[in-house]
Amino acid sequence: MNNVILIGFMGSGKSSVGRVLADKLERKFIDMDDEIELGEEKTINEIFSEYGEDHFREIETSYLEKLLTKKNKVIATGGGVILKEENIAILKRIGTVVFLHTTFESLLKNLQGDTKRPLLQRDDSEEVIRNLLNKREPIYFNAASMIIQTTDKSVEEIANEITSLL
Ligand code: S3P
Repeated sequence: MNNVILIGFMGSGKSSVGRVLADKLERKFIDMDDEIELGEEKTINEIFSEYGEDHFREIETSYLEKLLTKKNKVIATGGGVILKEENIAILKRIGTVVFLHTTFESLLKNLQGDTKRPLLQRDDSEEVIRNLLNKREPIYFNAASMIIQTTDKSVEEIANEITSLL
């Protein structure tokens, strides 16, 4: 079986589902944001505040390219990975792209009080989430070859659903 790549908005559960799914499939789990933080020796917050979002996006693409050599992994991406067309093409070459789709309300709940995501460290974060989601949702749908509705499902249920569809 090929690599499984999880895409979706911040707070959609890519990392927690990815870990459980990797366990079930007995595969290694790779979290792109963790790889970036380890490799760059900086948090995502630090990369954004020191160099800006554009620079982060360049780094993100270079870490994505590194995944082209991987096989049989479960990979969780950052929510903005679909913003570049070139990244989507790479994702599709890496493996099966799975979109974890959920409602605005549930994302809002999951992201409440978040301190790790630089794009949300502002007073109007609810508005930011709404705007980003409106812009990105069609892109996630287009980029994915599998779409999983995750609202009101446990991480375990979501992982089982993906496994049964692979
Ligand atoms: C981002 C999502 C984050 C991280 C960065 C930017 C985004 O990953 O890559 O903060 O633009 O949606 P998660 O989706 O894992 O939170």
